[in-house]
Amino acid sequence: MSLESKELVVVTGKGGVGKSSVAAALGVVMARNGRRVLVLEIDPRESVHQMLAAPPSDGEILQVAPNLYLQNLQPRQVLDQVVRERLRFEAIIHRVLESPIYQHFTEGAPGLKEMAILGHCLLLVEGKVPGAAKFDTVILDAPATGHGVSLLAAPLLVSDVIRQGPIAHMTADVAAFISSPERSGVVVVTLAEEMPVSEAIELRQLMHERLDRRPDLLVINALYPPVDDDADDDDDPLTALWVQRRSLNERELARLDEHWVGERLELPLLPVGQGPALTEALAARMEGS
Ligand SMILES: Nc1ncnc2c1ncn2[C@@H]1O[C@H](COP(=O)(O)OP(=O)(O)O)[C@@H](O)[C@H]1O
Ligand SMILES: [Mg+2]
Repeated sequence: MSLESKELVVVTGKGGVGKSSVAAALGVVMARNGRRVLVLEIDPRESVHQMLAAPPSDGEILQVAPNLYLQNLQPRQVLDQVVRERLRFEAIIHRVLESPIYQHFTEGAPGLKEMAILGHCLLLVEGKVPGAAKFDTVILDAPATGHGVSLLAAPLLVSDVIRQGPIAHMTADVAAFISSPERSGVVVVTLAEEMPVSEAIELRQLMHERLDRRPDLLVINALYPPVDDDADDDDDPLTALWVQRRSLNERELARLDEHWVGERLELPLLPVGQGPALTEALAARMEGS
């Protein structure tokens, strides 16, 4: 997989499509292949820990397996953390974090939280997060709010607004980091359903127009199994449901054939609940691909 050598893999997609599941499984695969991996979840509803059989990270970096770590952060925590990482003197840090101007500014400034998230990723792979080792790869389970493009376009936005000081410095570094196809990659996760597929196609288009980048991988998650020729949906409601759902999937797969150029991976809908067993099963499919 071409993602193997990246320092940052941004996993994006509409909420509920399996973004966190894919990020966790990808983390398992890459860690087994010898890379030191951190799965970073930005979501107030923490779920990656369950998928990796670990307790909630509560903002800390937590080892969950050999080579595999996780961290859950709220966007606001990330920004505070970046301020801490950049301003080394306790007294100043408190003054900045407590100041109403900072609070007001961080809520209002477009792209600043997103910028902080990417900045934190960069510090992690550079080994510059105090108390944390250097990571080979950060897998970013991107926030479900907004478009993946707004995350990736954040350095552009922020550099328009802030031209001096530590944030401006970081912005230039982060912009270089995420515009490098050698260093960073983007995985788009979708279901083979009408809305998520439309959004995935739109995301691809926007990435191309605004960032001159293409996603490295499309994951089509939770596909119903292909229907056997002899499946008879006349009198069995379960079979009828399966045939109907699969045909919806196939219609969307055909639409993707038309509008999506590039590598893709299909993952089945598995009869397994959220947890390490599902993560293992998805990882096995990724490894086999
Ligand atoms: N391929 C799959 N087969 C079965 N269940 C899945 C699959 N992918 C995801 N799920 C389940 O769907 C739910 C949503 O997945 P999750 O990864 O949390 O989505 P997101 O992070 O995009 O909101 C979870 O309960 C997860 O266990
Ligand atoms: Mg999630």
